[in-house]
Amino acid sequence: MESNYKIRNVEKEDLTQIFQLEEEAFKPSHYPLFVLRQFYDILSDLFFVAVNEHNQIKGYCFGGIDHNSKTGWVFALAVTKPEQKRKIGQRITIKLLEALKNRDINTIQLTTTPDNSSAINLYEKLGFEKVTETADYYFDNVPRIIMRLKIK
Ligand SMILES: CC(C)(COP(=O)(O)OP(=O)(O)OC[C@H]1O[C@@H](n2cnc3c(N)ncnc32)[C@H](O)[C@@H]1OP(=O)(O)O)[C@@H](O)C(=O)NCCC(=O)NCCS
Repeated sequence: MESNYKIRNVEKEDLTQIFQLEEEAFKPSHYPLFVLRQFYDILSDLFFVAVNEHNQIKGYCFGGIDHNSKTGWVFALAVTKPEQKRKIGQRITIKLLEALKNRDINTIQLTTTPDNSSAINLYEKLGFEKVTETADYYFDNVPRIIMRLKIK
């Protein structure tokens, strides 16, 4: 079932709500609020939120670009628990991928944990493939896989 929500670019006023969701989804390896603020400062055109009719954040997704290697990145994606499995994650990720594809890049990459089947299924559905697994990507003894989508 789809709930009544829309996807739009992030606004500064969204950041504290996004931080709450970031903390719920990824603690203890979540982005601090000040880092989200800095992502907003430099990447707001690659930073999307799903909001309901009361402007409450139900999901967010943001990325960045390494211009030297012409690689786009998906840095974060999360949907509030009660709203999961309603295609919000898929729609918001597609929005970011479309924004990245309009830039001069050849591939899009992301990392996730090998046990995160929800995320892996979603990314595979959108064309990503697993390329490698790193034992200690974030220096925290947690393995992560890198997934890649070739666009050129
Ligand atoms: C991963 C996440 C963003 C998915 O968002 P979502 O809105 O629930 O996903 P969608 O409804 O858009 O699902 C799209 C596809 O993803 C996959 N998927 C989503 N949830 C799944 C689940 N619980 N089990 C298996 N596959 C799942 C399916 O392939 C699904 O397509 P289908 O419904 O046709 O089978 C969400 O589960 C979440 O926020 N998880 C916690 C944070 C996180 O792990 N983020 C990813 C970090 S890399």
